[in-house]
Amino acid sequence: MKKIVVTKTLPFQIKEVIYENFEVLFFNNVTEETYEDFLAALTEAEGMIITVDFEFTEEIMEHMHKIKGVSTISVGYDGIPVKELSKRNIVCTNTPDILSEATADLIFGLILSTARRIPELDTMVKEGYWTRSIGEDFFGTNVYGKKLGIIGLGSIGEAVAKRASLGFGMEVSYHNRSRNERAEKESSAVYETLDELLETSDFVCLTVPLTPETEGLIGLNEFKKMKESAILVNGSRGKVVVEKDLITALKQGLIAGAGLDVYETEPIQMDNELLTFSNVITLPHAGSATNETRLDMAKLAICNLLDVLHDRTPRNPIYK
Ligand code: DGY
Repeated sequence: MKKIVVTKTLPFQIKEVIYENFEVLFFNNVTEETYEDFLAALTEAEGMIITVDFEFTEEIMEHMHKIKGVSTISVGYDGIPVKELSKRNIVCTNTPDILSEATADLIFGLILSTARRIPELDTMVKEGYWTRSIGEDFFGTNVYGKKLGIIGLGSIGEAVAKRASLGFGMEVSYHNRSRNERAEKESSAVYETLDELLETSDFVCLTVPLTPETEGLIGLNEFKKMKESAILVNGSRGKVVVEKDLITALKQGLIAGAGLDVYETEPIQMDNELLTFSNVITLPHAGSATNETRLDMAKLAICNLLDVLHDRTPRNPIYK
């Protein structure tokens, strides 16, 4: 049986499949205590199943002598040195598409929560301040009928566009490397330049992958172009936004709020100023975190790794 290492506990429903197919060593995150054991296991392993927070260091790479496949349970692979690994004939795979609907749900949750101030209202009720019907100081802003600008219209962006257009009667625009005709037809999404989108959207939603081109895409200049009433929603990667500029934009009232699932550094540090704003909602990179979706993603990651280790073409190879 092929030896593999898995860097996160997987859903119990698939452990049987794993044990049937692999000799496996599980690490529920590689910690200081388990690091040496992890390196020892890695030296012997042919495959790795990792998640989005796994960090490839030089030392780790030096222990990947026999590895043929790295399978990530995520769509994003900005943390994987794909080029270096492919030079060593290691095939990397990811799990696109099956997480798009769940991630779009959460992104929509951020849109609704920031606009309608749901966490603040929840806290107000639980802390006993709901003594009479609420007044203007707790009013939010409409989502229905507003304009949503989506930056990056891949499969997650498309799923957000559908919810906005069909469910919330929103006007949808998008900016993307290439036109997305299906979204234009199904969600009446209109292609705009980045500036047009920033200047006219009530909600600016980021669903681009992190690449050299998108890193730092939204900084102070971009915030200055946005409406003062606009809300930024980031469901992509933290580094797409210049975080210190976001903090400045919030302090100066250049935008009205932000709904964030991702950050420059994850997990977020407790001294990060973003945690101090009541008009910023902070989630722990939870886009795809539902039982069903994470199970599907794990299954797909296993199939991809099985294919690689048995010299078949995997369903989701990553090319860079
Ligand atoms: C992904 O799959 O890349 C997501 O960001 C993880 O939740």
